[in-house]
Amino acid sequence: RIAGPCALVIFGVTGDLAGKKLLPAVYDLANRGLLPPGFALVGYARRDWDDEAFASVVLESVKKNARTPFKEEVWTQLRRGIRFVSGNFTDDEGFQALRETLRDLEESQGTAGNNAFYLSIPPGHFDGVVGKLRRLGLADQGGVRWSRVIIEKPFGHDLESAQELNRVVGSVFPPESVFRIDHYLGKETVQNMLAVRFANQMFEPIWNNNYVSHVQITMAEDIGIGGRAGYYDGIGAARDVIQNHLLQLMALTAMEEPNNFEADELRAEKRKVLAAASTPADLAAHTARGQYLGGWQGGEKVRGYLEEEGIEPGSMTETYAAIRVDVDNRRWAGVPFYLRTAKRMPRRVTEIALNFKRAPHLPFADTDTQEMGTNALVMRIQPDEGVTMRFGAKVPGTAMEIREVSMDFGYGGSFTESSPEAYERLILDVLLGDPPLFPQHEEVELGWKILDPVLDFWESTGAQPEGYAAGTWGPASADEMLARDGFTWRRP
Ligand code: BG6
Repeated sequence: RIAGPCALVIFGVTGDLAGKKLLPAVYDLANRGLLPPGFALVGYARRDWDDEAFASVVLESVKKNARTPFKEEVWTQLRRGIRFVSGNFTDDEGFQALRETLRDLEESQGTAGNNAFYLSIPPGHFDGVVGKLRRLGLADQGGVRWSRVIIEKPFGHDLESAQELNRVVGSVFPPESVFRIDHYLGKETVQNMLAVRFANQMFEPIWNNNYVSHVQITMAEDIGIGGRAGYYDGIGAARDVIQNHLLQLMALTAMEEPNNFEADELRAEKRKVLAAASTPADLAAHTARGQYLGGWQGGEKVRGYLEEEGIEPGSMTETYAAIRVDVDNRRWAGVPFYLRTAKRMPRRVTEIALNFKRAPHLPFADTDTQEMGTNALVMRIQPDEGVTMRFGAKVPGTAMEIREVSMDFGYGGSFTESSPEAYERLILDVLLGDPPLFPQHEEVELGWKILDPVLDFWESTGAQPEGYAAGTWGPASADEMLARDGFTWRRP
């Protein structure tokens, strides 16, 4: 489907996210023919730029980061609707100029007065910005026009601040006009979770505590903190990633089949999982956190977290976080979900692994020493997108020896279609007013309910996160955490 006429206003357009993801995604959508002629892209930031200067910044980021090939005619068309408004988040002036620009675009570009406001800015400014949008009449939903707001995490830093944030945004925009971005939900492989589970008959019968022993959800990154100290320090891995991406992955893995994929139905099922989920009481035993030290990665010497630029001396921010979550319902009682994420791991990989129980009886010799099919179904979210099934098979030879093998489905080998980038899909959905892939505020709040006790506990220890060398799989306490339950982490 092609979006209808509208303007996309990006606040914080000089930031990292806009340059790397948002601006290229807009171009890719245009290139795929999914934006209408009456489309405008408006950048809002403090810089003293004019339209021309902004357009050249957009062009540069498109040439560097767009997925689809550069085409002069697509760019020329997009360029017609590009505007820049210079302003801050606190004075009226900039917002008045923005209002004028949007009015002008209605005429000159044919945007029909429909506006989407993307707040790619620190949450501390949300209050001020949505307040100004309301006062200047930019949030009005008058008649057939629409006005939508897109917000980026962090949605607060705990339950209380998230509730406050929801109140602030909710006081200006009705729930159906608020689009919270969790870009993991925009990933093809994450949506494929729904296809694998609900388009097939063979997986669902074993997708429960009769067969699954435990689930490991891993989001490992090889990169360090790079230039993002200002955002990351004081936030840490659990707030950055577990609260949103990993709990969403868990919800999609654990939820019941929705009646259909309408937003209300899908969200209701996710919400039930999150409401049934909690961490064990003994948090010392069932969580782990770490901070990367210097080390070697990909043949390169890298700095430790505390030596990175812009990090507070002695910062206690974790760059590795692992927690156990129990989902107390009939399907999952007794099956721990382990969620872990970290920077500076040996490689970049995100996966969901359902690990199955051992066969009840093994009619083979030496069952202790052989690899006896600890079956797993691994949803490979990225970068090598696909699904793997692990099982035991006979090693060729005269003896009955069993070894684990893999059966693979890979996107690259099975499809010729290319995947849109997550932000492309999500921005298009906002412009179309299509909400299923956007978490609503209840989900965000339930996420904090799960995580708050862990964060409080970590803070109460007053201890520095355990160090782990860059390029390794994390601190010893994380291994101990799983060993206590009789499991080991996968090394994908
Ligand atoms: C973001 C986090 O949400 O996801 C970053 O804030 C992280 O810290 C990023 O690097 C990873 O996204 P992706 O799509 O590359 O897995």
